[in-house]
Amino acid sequence: MVILAIESSCDETAAAVVENGRQVLSNVVVSQVAEHKLYGGVVPEIASRRHAEAIVGVVDEALVQANKTLADLDAVAVTYAPGLIGALLVGVNFAKGLSFASDKPLIPVHHLRGHIASNYITHPDLKPPFLCLVVSGGHSHIIAVEDYTRMKIIGKTRDDAAGEVFDKVARTMGMPYPGGINLDKTAQNGNDKAFVLPHPRVADSMYDLSFSGLKTAAINIIHNASQKGEEVNTADLSASFRKAVVDCLTEKLMKAADDFGYKKIVLAGGVSANSLLRERTEYLCKQKNIEVYMPELKYCGDNAAMIGAQAYYEYLSGNTAAADLNAAATKSIEEG
Ligand code: KG4
Ligand code: ZN
Repeated sequence: MVILAIESSCDETAAAVVENGRQVLSNVVVSQVAEHKLYGGVVPEIASRRHAEAIVGVVDEALVQANKTLADLDAVAVTYAPGLIGALLVGVNFAKGLSFASDKPLIPVHHLRGHIASNYITHPDLKPPFLCLVVSGGHSHIIAVEDYTRMKIIGKTRDDAAGEVFDKVARTMGMPYPGGINLDKTAQNGNDKAFVLPHPRVADSMYDLSFSGLKTAAINIIHNASQKGEEVNTADLSASFRKAVVDCLTEKLMKAADDFGYKKIVLAGGVSANSLLRERTEYLCKQKNIEVYMPELKYCGDNAAMIGAQAYYEYLSGNTAAADLNAAATKSIEEG
């Protein structure tokens, strides 16, 4: 089954052609990062406009690179939630038009389910059930993936997402947007014991996470130093902060794996590109004899190949949409 997938939930306009949920025939991503960088973060109105300008060319290019025409497709898939509403609507309306004009089924895909499915591309043998840590700019979830389209949230952040705090602390240190990757690189040369940061606990939950206190503590260190006319060692603070975030994530993830008896752990989302998170998860899983899977770096961030991968399984489970499909800024991964 050949699926054309479209993704426009944030600041990447992306289209891909994917066969049977696993084989990527093309994967085109046009990023708006250079423009949003000027403002220190994504400006939603600009994102919508740039998607509208780019989408025809991006979809065309995905078809050309896959050597397919509309007639060769079996379905059109699109990210419909969650994300920036104006940005999502560009992809949703374009996909609806294509599906109607070509008389192919329309498959709605939840963005976070797509992130999880990026692992099906990298690991052709990976099958649910497994435990997945989905960490992106907007979400931090520990999810029991019971089947391709049946998921249960075991734990989630009560406040900021992991990617969001990486970006905010990086920005306060003067790094350009998106800061997560820059902070990760800067941390390679730092001492992770140089700063003592809080280890946030969520009183009434064993698996929920909280990052806002940790973020504030790091930002206060930077502001206090600047008020005294001192400079913070950014490599040391990056290393200490990265370690604190990764410790929180892996501690809850491993606890959930123990308590629920999972022997397979999967990472997904933009923050799964973090080098320490990858390293620590691998190390901890090895100690406990747990199989570990993570996406290839090029599939960690937003792309449409992952949407095409998940779309195949959504289709098999009977999930198609009519022409009245709407986008949604928020939607639980459990609802799909
Ligand atoms: O999944 P994603 O591309 O977009 C959303 O769905 O949000 O995630 C983007 C997030 C950003 O916050 C970005 O800074 C973060 O992932 N990120 C990283 C790294 N690479 C990307 N955070 C920490 N370390 C990285 N290497
Ligand atoms: Zn994403």
